[in-house]
Amino acid sequence: MTAPCGRLAAGESQGAHIGGGNDTSMTAPCGRLPAGESQGASKYWLEIGFGGGEHLLWQARANPDVAMIGCEPFEDGVIKVLNAIEGEALTNIKIHMGDARELLRVLPAASISRAFVLFPDPWPKRKHRKRRLLNPITLDLLAQALCPGAELRIGTDIGDYARTILEAMAHEARFAWRVEGPSDWRVRPDDWPATRYEQKAAEAGRRRYYLNFLRI
Ligand SMILES: C[S@@+](CC[C@H](N)C(=O)[O-])C[C@H]1O[C@@H](n2cnc3c(N)ncnc32)[C@H](O)[C@@H]1O
Repeated sequence: MTAPCGRLAAGESQGAHIGGGNDTSMTAPCGRLPAGESQGASKYWLEIGFGGGEHLLWQARANPDVAMIGCEPFEDGVIKVLNAIEGEALTNIKIHMGDARELLRVLPAASISRAFVLFPDPWPKRKHRKRRLLNPITLDLLAQALCPGAELRIGTDIGDYARTILEAMAHEARFAWRVEGPSDWRVRPDDWPATRYEQKAAEAGRRRYYLNFLRI
């Protein structure tokens, strides 16, 4: 099921056939792609901007019944993951080498049951903030691709980025922030291994924020 760089595997590669998020005729059962694209997987999880692929590979190894879709435009990261896929004979990872928004626009509505956006590029300078990936437009695309009951995990080490995500989510009726106390956003869950970027942030003494949203 491993795809060459820049494409999803056969059956998923033809974006037009996968369908747009607004095409209700293509709506898949929760957590599944339509017949012809599912290739027997019971669930599809999506990681956006997987970087070196540490988390993507960990989740694929720990969840062999889940088809992981990894999305990353950075060629070196994609090559690392492809090498690991080949070396370990992993069969449950698909790669889209490119912009996550392109992929989100062609995924069927409600086809993804868990999504991860871990430490997206921070763009800390005020004049660059408009370049941040997580904004109301991308959150809308994610809301279309995720099925009701799905989980969206977001990590960031930039307090201002966390705040703007929470503000956008406060206006987004399709997501609810899962939080009961500070440990919910301060402590990384056990099934969320640290990424390389996060390790660097920790070494630099930066606080990390772990946000968990429920697709309603
Ligand atoms: C700060 S790095 C974090 C990488 C990894 N998640 C980690 O925590 O180590 C952000 C990653 O997002 C990727 N990225 C940037 N824009 C993207 C986009 N539009 N779609 C998908 N990935 C993107 C970058 O190439 C980069 O690998």
